Amino acid sequence: MKFDTLALTAAIIAIPSVSATGGNNFTRRCGRLIQTFKNANTKVLWSGYVTKGTNVTYPDLHPTCGQNWVIAQANMCRLSLNVTTSSTSNVIMEVWMPENWETTGQRFAMTGNGGVSGCATLSDLAFTASLGFATVGHNNGHDGTSSLPFLNRPEVIKDFAWRATLVATQVGKAATNFFYQASPTKSYYWGCSGGGRQGMKIAQDFPQEYDGIIAGDPAADFHRLVAAGLYFSYQTGPPSAPTWLSLEQWQAVNAEVLAQCDTIDGVADTVLEDPLKCHPRFETMLCGQLETWATHQCLTPAQVSAVDKIYSPVYGNKGRFFAPRVQPGNDQIFGFYLVYGAPSELGVEYIRYAIKNDPTWTPPPSLDEMLDIMDNLLDNDPYKVSANNPNLTPLKNSGHKLLVYHGTSDGYYSHENTIKLYENTARNMTLKSKQLDDFYRLFPVTGLNHCNGGNGAWYFGGSGQHGLGISGVDPNESLIMKMVRWVENGVAPDTLRGYQINPVTGKPVGAVRDHCRHPLKNTYKGTGDPLSPANWECKLGTKYP
Ligand SMILES: *[C@@H]1O[C@H](CO)[C@@H](O)[C@H](O)[C@H]1NC(C)=O
Ligand SMILES: *[C@@H]1O[C@H](CO)[C@@H](O)[C@H](O)[C@H]1NC(C)=O
Ligand SMILES: *[C@@H]1O[C@H](CO)[C@@H](O)[C@H](O)[C@H]1NC(C)=O
Ligand SMILES: *[C@@H]1O[C@H](CO)[C@@H](O)[C@H](O)[C@H]1NC(C)=O
Ligand SMILES: *[C@@H]1O[C@H](CO)[C@@H](O)[C@H](O)[C@H]1NC(C)=O
Repeated sequence: MKFDTLALTAAIIAIPSVSATGGNNFTRRCGRLIQTFKNANTKVLWSGYVTKGTNVTYPDLHPTCGQNWVIAQANMCRLSLNVTTSSTSNVIMEVWMPENWETTGQRFAMTGNGGVSGCATLSDLAFTASLGFATVGHNNGHDGTSSLPFLNRPEVIKDFAWRATLVATQVGKAATNFFYQASPTKSYYWGCSGGGRQGMKIAQDFPQEYDGIIAGDPAADFHRLVAAGLYFSYQTGPPSAPTWLSLEQWQAVNAEVLAQCDTIDGVADTVLEDPLKCHPRFETMLCGQLETWATHQCLTPAQVSAVDKIYSPVYGNKGRFFAPRVQPGNDQIFGFYLVYGAPSELGVEYIRYAIKNDPTWTPPPSLDEMLDIMDNLLDNDPYKVSANNPNLTPLKNSGHKLLVYHGTSDGYYSHENTIKLYENTARNMTLKSKQLDDFYRLFPVTGLNHCNGGNGAWYFGGSGQHGLGISGVDPNESLIMKMVRWVENGVAPDTLRGYQINPVTGKPVGAVRDHCRHPLKNTYKGTGDPLSPANWECKLGTKYP
């Protein structure tokens, strides 16, 4: 009896009376959250009412995160929290709770991070809140874009791998519940790159938390991404090596790829509708007798061999598959893999701090040794950073939805990885695409680079596409609202409508394309203006090799 009374008292304390939270006054209740919101392992850092148009600044944001401010696009209650995840780790998170939540569907949303980063995607946070969602952004358990915070801190790696996303979800929902005194009707996740990996992790490990999950350009097989980033630089070497190519030479290589592959799809527009059909022959670029780059813009045999290796799949010493070739038909690859003249910094730091836990580690001089390290990387993922489990049975059984997209000119992480994961799921669950379509749709987006930008009709209101000054595209057409219609109205997207964007004006210009879902391919009908979606259809293309 006594126990029951205590429990009852606790329940009364946990549910605030209207007067304790400041009457029905949204502003006052919000300001008081710093005293009233109680949750296990959670400290409120700040709470306050923010009006639409306010410049929300984060002066303490790690400098590597880039822009440390964002303009609020809705009147809302902003809540900052510090959540302890272990004795040596914590997550800093924000909950943005719009004033019009009750009249806009009472939805909850979570945004993702990028790379190994502990930087919230502020533009996604602001955009989602502008649509009325109570939205969370968090630092993924560490600050900044480097792997340095992983050194000697396994609990921080665990947060990065999956725990920060789960904890921020649960605390975010608790705060939303508490503040509005009502549960969200539906919950949505969306993110790109590292945020795509987080989305796949949710789909694989805790699908019950989200009704709709959007994973963009998912860096899901993260250890393979790291391995690829290390491998490619060994093929080109440092600038002094005979296998080295300058940026100008790489641009010529890209032009050659386009010369050989651009019109396979019937339209010369620098966009490959099916990069899987593109297998360029680089010997066309060889210098003849007495010819040089300076005189003839041609390449040496050593350079052609290096280019060939970059555009071939990567296998290890044991013949094990590491990664697909770099994606043909884009010029984004140069920045990340090829012109540093050294293994990618992301890869080196990740191995140094997260895998070897040794700040003195440097990449070995020989490729053979490096291949052994890469091999090890695939066997050594104790916190399961890689989100590559093909078995989505729990997601299927939950009735929740997963929408994946991947730019086919993503220069950081090839969309072939994402197709592979889809096919692994098809085999693992013995499901045809028509059956997978019920809960898992993959849209390869042609002419989209990594998350945003590109030569094609790449804008569809995905993660990281906001905050680029793009206007004239209805937010109601944005990806998260398409997911809402799938989850809430049962209207699944057959295609993703993408817009080409004028980089100067930020307005749609040129191509509009209804991107098809895998395994269908955007196919030009052969006549009519190729900029118009009416002259394209979705058809089965080549099988994945
Ligand atoms: C709500 O509270 C704020 C801050 O205390 C006050 O400025 C505002 O006038 C109140 N609004 C109403 C409708 O009472
Ligand atoms: C927002 O504030 C920051 C920091 O003071 C400033 O650098 C930035 O220019 C401001 N943004 C706008 C649009 O005013
Ligand atoms: C968050 O809490 C941890 C203790 O769990 C503390 O070490 C850290 O300084 C706090 N961070 C902030 C920004 O308050
Ligand atoms: C499906 O994937 C799970 C998890 O990786 C694995 O345990 C299982 O053996 C796979 N099943 C099939 C039929 O491949
Ligand atoms: C949003 O778009 C859907 C169809 O895509 C339409 O049915 C709905 O009326 C639109 N809502 C608004 C507010 O424009």
